[in-house]
Amino acid sequence: MAQAPESLELLSNDTTDKSLDRDCTTLSRHVLQQLQSFSPDAQDLSALMTRIALAGKLIARRLSRAGLMEGVLGFTGDVNVQGESVKKMDVYANDVFISVFKQSGLVCRLASEEMEKPYYIPENCPIGRYSLLYDPIDGSSNTDTNLSLGSIFAVRKQEGTDLNGEAADLLSVGRKQIAAGYILYGPSTMLIYTIGKGVHSFTLDPSLGEFILTEENIRIPNHGSVYSVNEGNFWQWDESIREYIRYVHRTEGYTARYSGAMVSDIHRILLQGGVFLYPGILPKPEGKLRLLYESAPLALVIEQAGGRATTGHMDILDVMPTKLHQRTPLIIGSPKDVAKVESFIQNGH
Ligand code: AHG
Ligand code: MN
Ligand code: MN
Repeated sequence: MAQAPESLELLSNDTTDKSLDRDCTTLSRHVLQQLQSFSPDAQDLSALMTRIALAGKLIARRLSRAGLMEGVLGFTGDVNVQGESVKKMDVYANDVFISVFKQSGLVCRLASEEMEKPYYIPENCPIGRYSLLYDPIDGSSNTDTNLSLGSIFAVRKQEGTDLNGEAADLLSVGRKQIAAGYILYGPSTMLIYTIGKGVHSFTLDPSLGEFILTEENIRIPNHGSVYSVNEGNFWQWDESIREYIRYVHRTEGYTARYSGAMVSDIHRILLQGGVFLYPGILPKPEGKLRLLYESAPLALVIEQAGGRATTGHMDILDVMPTKLHQRTPLIIGSPKDVAKVESFIQNGH
């Protein structure tokens, strides 16, 4: 009688649901474990992360069927506060984050790339001590071609009563973020977060509908081969950035990767090292990326993983914004690679 080939056994092991082989640490449990407490603050953070994860699941579900449904892809015909054309997915994802926080009692104000002013959820405001800052869809230009996208988020504690409804306390440095991270919609959906105690990644198991712990305490390599920048802007950069790019061109060991969604570019760099740059350009010296809901959350993640994020002159997390949609140049990634770009900016070599 023929024996079952070993490969068949391997095959059956491979198809076993790996998540059930593991400890199956869910996101909410992980937050509580990190804080080693069931205090009200710990419960709040756990609930906040669970709601953010729910937004990620809803967005991932819609993206996974986008090509099969009417009215998901393409532009709305509107232009947002940034002067950029709005896609239907931007609007959907923006609304998802609002709706998951309705009646949560957690978040009074949400500020996003897609809204000129912060959105208030009045029923939460008497008790909602937190604010959410977010980029609902990062890499919008990838939406209609089924390429990687992201969502970026940061949580801050509300300071003061905000009785005049101006949300002035949101204009503060990134070091005030109490949680930050991103969701990556790629071949699988991942959620990466930090609450100031390292960086941890989770993968969405669609069969469970849960984000399951993938890697704890991720450390970014000190150096990597990737440089990630839109070289189409070459002639619009300052000469120092052009010189840095000439340097990587003539130096062995560098390779370019640029996807159009910085969440995916920075995720690669988090795991494998390298540097992502979005410097200022001649008509826009402040660059393209928004400080409060793009650069600062990603800066906290990368710093917590042992990397660095700078404007070229100061740490992103120390930049004090003067307006909600403030932009900033961004150089982020492995410490050695960020330092190299900085030395071109500051010393010309
Ligand atoms: P968004 O889709 O939220 O506007 O952000 C896109 C950002 C970033 O994710 C990406 O790296 C960069 O803009 C791409 O811009 P360019 O097309 O100018 O390179
Ligand atoms: Mn973005
Ligand atoms: Mn966006």
